[in-house]
Amino acid sequence: MLTVISLCVQGDLMATYSELLFHARRAMQHSYAPYSRFRVGAALLTGDDEIVTGCNVENASYGLSNCAERTAVFRAVSEGMKFFKAIAVVSSRSNPVYPCGACRQVLYEFNPRMKIVVEGRGGKPIVSSLLRMLPSGFGPQNLAKLRR
Ligand code: THU
Repeated sequence: MLTVISLCVQGDLMATYSELLFHARRAMQHSYAPYSRFRVGAALLTGDDEIVTGCNVENASYGLSNCAERTAVFRAVSEGMKFFKAIAVVSSRSNPVYPCGACRQVLYEFNPRMKIVVEGRGGKPIVSSLLRMLPSGFGPQNLAKLRR
C-alpha cells in the first residue's frame, strides 16, 4: 500500500520544507543499505501537496541499487502523480546530501524548477533548485517535435 501523506500548506514554505525533511527522515528508517551502510531517505511534495517518500534499496549485484530519490519518484508516478514541487533528501551522515546525477536527470523529467531541500545544522532546511544543479538539462522539451 502506498502511504501518501496529505500536507496542510499554509503559505509558510520553510515549515513545509521542515515537514518534508521530517518525512524523509522517517523514510530513511526503511533504507536497505547493507553494503554501503549509507542510509538515505527522500520525500517528494506533489502538485496536490501530498508527500510520497522513498529510501535507497541496495542489491548484492551492486549496480542494481536504487537511490532514495528515484524510489520516491517511481512510487509517485506509479500512483498517478507526475508533478513535484520539491524533494527533501536526508542521509545517515551529518553533512547535507544532494541528489546524484542520475537522480537529477530523473527529477528533471517531472519539473526542472523543483526545489531541492537538504538538511543543514540542527535539521534546518537548506533550499536549492534542480535548475541550479542541472543547468541546460535534457528533457521532454527536446523530444517534443517527435511526439505525435
Ligand atoms: N544514494 C541515494 O540514495 N541518493 C543519493 O543521492 C546518493 C546515493 C544511495 C545509493 C547507495 O545505496 C548509497 O547511497 C551509497 O551510494
